[in-house]
Amino acid sequence: MIRSTERSLDLLGWMDSLADETRLRLLHLMEQHELGVVDLCDVLQMPQSTVSRHLKVLGDQGWCRCRRQGTANLYRMSLDELEPAPRRLWILAREQTESWSTLHQDQLRLQRRLRQRREASRDFFDNSAEQWDKLRSELYGQRFDLDAQLALLPPTWVVADLGCGAGAITASLARHVGRVIGVDQSAAMLKSAKLRTAELNNVELRRGNLESLPIDDASCDGAVMVLVLTYLADPAAAVKEIARILKPGGRAAVIDLLPHDRDDFRRQMDQHWSGLDPKELSRLMTEAGLSQIVSRDLPPEPETKGPALFLVTATR
Ligand SMILES: C[S@@+](CC[C@H](N)C(=O)[O-])C[C@H]1O[C@@H](n2cnc3c(N)ncnc32)[C@H](O)[C@@H]1O
Repeated sequence: MIRSTERSLDLLGWMDSLADETRLRLLHLMEQHELGVVDLCDVLQMPQSTVSRHLKVLGDQGWCRCRRQGTANLYRMSLDELEPAPRRLWILAREQTESWSTLHQDQLRLQRRLRQRREASRDFFDNSAEQWDKLRSELYGQRFDLDAQLALLPPTWVVADLGCGAGAITASLARHVGRVIGVDQSAAMLKSAKLRTAELNNVELRRGNLESLPIDDASCDGAVMVLVLTYLADPAAAVKEIARILKPGGRAAVIDLLPHDRDDFRRQMDQHWSGLDPKELSRLMTEAGLSQIVSRDLPPEPETKGPALFLVTATR
């Protein structure tokens, strides 16, 4: 008895909140787009206080939901989120009001409003094209878009990060592929890598030598070696190891320093070689049984002080 009384009260509330032309117009608009109060005022041609009052009635009765974005409140009505009874009520109200000429006018003003929004966004980029790179990195940093690029990797891949150091690459790869095996000879570096990857359960860190890797033959889909080869007395041995651990079709990517004449830099960084010639590395890769070798110089990043870098990729 009590339940049916409650239901009747709900029904009266729903019907009461729908029994208003402005609120019906608002629901039509919010069902099509998530809109702010300013958008709704512009389309309905009504003052903000009036629109806000009607939105409150609709919100209280559960017809629409509000989401905060920055300093704006955005309103949306979604048929899927309504309870069955008000959903049926709205479908009926929508059918009965669809032919209203006021709604047609609202449609035209809504389309104009949305067009203005798109044009404002286009104007913003037309006027900021030249400063965009600077603004982008000031606002969001230099590395965030790497995640979009890494997300294109097959999520099942096993990847070896050879000379993983403090685990920066290991960690970002592990967020996108099945498993990452980081190898380094330095216990201190591996300790930092362990801390950095503590929350990732698909990382294995192994202490070992790049000239005789602690990884099985043909067990990896990918291998990266970044800023490592210039430290090795025998780069050819490390390249052979890359070829050995890759599955047929597996991919290798190596980044290192282009040849340079800054011997002070080499000594300061304790490197064996003053950079490597990408052609020589490509030759070593071919000898090791890798193919489809592509090398390219990397554009130096602004405000960096080290020698320029190259990337070589190859397939097993
Ligand atoms: C400059 S760090 C680069 C680390 C990492 N790849 C990065 O980009 O941040 C070079 C790393 O190679 C490791 N390394 C150098 N020679 C090695 C070798 N023969 N075997 C294993 N690791 C080596 C060092 O311990 C160091 O962590």
